[in-house]
Amino acid sequence: MPFEHPPLEPTLEETGFATVVAPILLDHCASCHNPGGPGSTHWYLSTARDVVEVSPYIVEQVVSGQMPPWPASDLGVPYAKSLGLTADEFDAVIGWLEAGAALDVDEDTPMFAAELAALEDPLVVPPVEPYGGESGRYDDYRCLVYQPDLDEGAWLTGYQFVADQTEVVHHALGYLVPAREWEDALARDARDEGSGWECFGGTGLDDTFVVGWAPGQLPGRYPDGSGLRLEPGDFFVVQVHYHYDTRPGPDASWLELQLDHGSTELEPVTISQYLTPAEIPCGPGEAGPLCDRTAAMARAVGEFGVVPADLINLQCRVSPADFADMTDGTAWSSCDLPVMATGEIISVLGHMHALGATYRMTLNPDTDEELVLLDIPDWDYDWQYNYEPAQSIVLKRGDVLRFECSWERSRRDPDLEPAYVLWSFGSDDEMCFSTVVTRPTP
Ligand code: HEC
Repeated sequence: MPFEHPPLEPTLEETGFATVVAPILLDHCASCHNPGGPGSTHWYLSTARDVVEVSPYIVEQVVSGQMPPWPASDLGVPYAKSLGLTADEFDAVIGWLEAGAALDVDEDTPMFAAELAALEDPLVVPPVEPYGGESGRYDDYRCLVYQPDLDEGAWLTGYQFVADQTEVVHHALGYLVPAREWEDALARDARDEGSGWECFGGTGLDDTFVVGWAPGQLPGRYPDGSGLRLEPGDFFVVQVHYHYDTRPGPDASWLELQLDHGSTELEPVTISQYLTPAEIPCGPGEAGPLCDRTAAMARAVGEFGVVPADLINLQCRVSPADFADMTDGTAWSSCDLPVMATGEIISVLGHMHALGATYRMTLNPDTDEELVLLDIPDWDYDWQYNYEPAQSIVLKRGDVLRFECSWERSRRDPDLEPAYVLWSFGSDDEMCFSTVVTRPTP
C-alpha cells in the first residue's frame, strides 16, 4: 500500500485574510475605494467588514476583469506601479472569497491604503474657474484650463491631478499647451458657458498629451535628473470626465506641479506622439449619406478646419481603399514607424475613442528583438494610463514601432446617424494615437 499523505491543512498564514488577501486589496483597491475615493460611492472600503459584506460583488467585478481597472494584458512588458493583479494575486483573492471569505481579524480592522508619497513642495494650480457641471449628465467631458503663471522657464519633474469633488470626477487626461495658444484657449472658454469647454479626445489646441490620470494613481514623476521643459506662459488643459449621478457642487480639481527652477540643466524628457490610421467604414445594416467617406471628410473639415486623416494614411502608406472591405463591423489598422526620439523609455500610452476595441504597440516587430510594449485586449476609454515599463528599454536609431488598433461599430452610440468614421477630433470620430516618453541615455 502506498503511503497516503494526510490532506494538507493550509494554515491561516497561507490562505488567510490578514497575511495574504488584505495586503492585495490594500495595494490594488483601497486607493480608489477608501472614503472619498472615486469608487467609494460604489464600494465603500474602510474596514474588513466592508470586504465580507459584499464579497459576491467583489468576485463578480474581479472575475469579469472590471476591477481593478487595468486594461493592459500580460502580453506586454511588466510595468512599475501596476494596479493589475498577477495570476497568483487573483487566485489568492478569488480563492479566499469563494471559500467563504472567513476573517482571521476583527471585523472592525481598518483597511486604509498607505499614504501616497507626496510631491516635494509642489506648485498648486487651481483651474482658472471652478466647473459647475450639469445635473443628471452621466458623461460630461470638460476641458479645464490651468495657468501656472511661470515668469521664467522651469523643469517639470513630477505632477499630480487632485480631484476636488471626488464623487463626480471620474478620470482626466492632461495636456501641455504652449503659451502662443493662450488666446485661442480663452476664446474657446468664452464660447462655451461655464468654466472651460466641452471636449473629448483632445483639446482642439496645439497640445501635447502629457499624462492620462486615473484617480487613485500615484503622483507621476520623471526619473531623477530629468524633467519636462516648461517655458513662461505655457499652460495645461485637463480634460476631466465627470459622472453627474450625484451633484456635490462646483468642482475645483487642481494640479500639483513639482518644479525645478534650479540652474543645473536637467535631461529633457521627450514626449513623442505617433499618429496612425483610423478608417472605419459603415457596417452591416448601416446606410446613409455620411457612409460615403468623402461626405464624412467634408463634415469633419467643416467642423474642425484641418483633419489629418489623409496625411496620416500617407505617412503609413495606406489609403481608404485598404479599408474599403472592412464592412463587417470591425476595422483595424497597422502602421510601422521609425522611432522619433531615441533614449530610455519612461512610459507608453495608447489612445482611441469610444469605438476602440484593441490596441497594441510593438518594438521591432517581426525580429528576434520583438517586444510588445503595450497590449490592451479590450479598450476602455475610462482607464487610460501612462504605462511605465519596469525594466530599462532603450530605443536606438533605426528601431521601429508598430501601432495596431482595431474598432468595433457595435460600440458606437446607436442613436448617431450612420457615418464613415475617420481620424479626427470630435467625440464621434476616432483616433489611433500613441505617446512614448523617453529621456536621453548617457
Ligand atoms: C483606479 C481606481 C480603482 C481601483 C484601483 C479599483 N476600483 Fe473598484 N471601482 C472604481 C470605480 C470608479 C468604480 C465605479 C464603477 C466604474 O466606474 O467602473 C468601481 C466599482 C467597484 C465595485 C462596485 C461595482 C458596482 O456594481 O457598483 C466593486 C465591487 C469594486 N469596484 C471592487 C474593486 C476591487 C475588489 C478592487 C481591487 C481588486 C478595485 N475595485 C479597484 C475604481 C477603482
